Amino acid sequence: MFESLPVAPPDSILGLTDAFQKDQRTDKVNLTVGVYKDEAGQTPVLASVKKAEQRLWNEEKTKGYLGIDGLTDFNRLVQELVFGDSVDAKRVAAVQSPGGTGALRVVADTIGSHYRGGTVWLTQPTWPNHPSIFQAASLQTRYCPYLDATKTGLDLDAMLQSLQQEARPGDIVCLHGCCHNPTGIDPTAAQWDRIAEQTAKLGMLPLVDFAYQGFGDGLAADRVGLIALLKHHAEVVVCASFSKNFGLYSERVGAAMIVARDPGSATATLSQMKLAVRANYSNPPRHGGAIVATILGDESLRSLWESEVDQMRGRISSMRTALVQGMRDAGSTRDFSFLLDQKGMFSYTGLNAMQADWLKIQKGIYLVGTGRINVAGLTPRNLPGVCQAITECLESTISS
Ligand code: LMR
Repeated sequence: MFESLPVAPPDSILGLTDAFQKDQRTDKVNLTVGVYKDEAGQTPVLASVKKAEQRLWNEEKTKGYLGIDGLTDFNRLVQELVFGDSVDAKRVAAVQSPGGTGALRVVADTIGSHYRGGTVWLTQPTWPNHPSIFQAASLQTRYCPYLDATKTGLDLDAMLQSLQQEARPGDIVCLHGCCHNPTGIDPTAAQWDRIAEQTAKLGMLPLVDFAYQGFGDGLAADRVGLIALLKHHAEVVVCASFSKNFGLYSERVGAAMIVARDPGSATATLSQMKLAVRANYSNPPRHGGAIVATILGDESLRSLWESEVDQMRGRISSMRTALVQGMRDAGSTRDFSFLLDQKGMFSYTGLNAMQADWLKIQKGIYLVGTGRINVAGLTPRNLPGVCQAITECLESTISS
């Protein structure tokens, strides 16, 4: 069975972390995978999470299985976090999932088992795992343009025109709720309204990958796209991740939520989502979900957590500003001020695959081949070296 299998290529993001770990250089810098790092370059356990874990350690009575859809409190509190009061909770079918990836797979399987061969439109570029997940669930993927020719801004007309010309009613459009991965380029509130209106007119189903709530403009402000979609669409699919905003990467905690037309459809939809869960991983892990539910359900833990999210967002945004200034200080002839308009953990630097390779080989600075960097991987300590290296790289390589 297995002796003739070819070796699969390494993952375009996580594969680089493997390479980074094997790199012996002491001044190496990892700007690949989307993981928050503090000023010291560490990925901290949030204080609110530690306190919630202490409470759980004292109070948790069982490690018995959760229900297929996870913790009831988690599902209730998470819906409120994600939607605010923009939707009637009775219209939402929600399951706790192993991370945002698990949520995407649950909704993809739920949709794919009823609309086999359905089409999901992805922005070009998007997170490289999106096509893999949807295709694994028997859905087809197609791309619509997202960026303008300079690759530093959104070309909304091109995006909507391509959907208008080629999408069919019932097609799904996968949108990034905020902090577009990999570009950091988000629609404005007015542009979200146009996206929502146009996709509704075309009879498309929006599927929102909401992995960075709180990292763009704030926990409530980052709902702007979702609220616009809910205004124009009777059905919206949302996949939330709590890896980033709770720092719970390895606990694998997320939520798959489908807003249905009415409570009756939501009940039926939930029953179908549970079939998808049962066939994938049976029921979700308890610990991460219990941490999130404990924090969201307690006033003081919640306000501590909210301040920690604000801090993480603030640090990322100050490193973004410092990067732009650092490139000037390093004597770069290329102006990087476009980075200031980008939001969240990632930035699209405009560096190409060859330049990313050059930085890795010559300087031990790792970024994704598309030119995406994790801004949160920058620290006041490594920033000058990174800026110097990029400037040198731009002088010694050919830009695309
Ligand atoms: C990323 O894009 O770096 C993160 O979403 C982590 C991942 O799983 O790829």
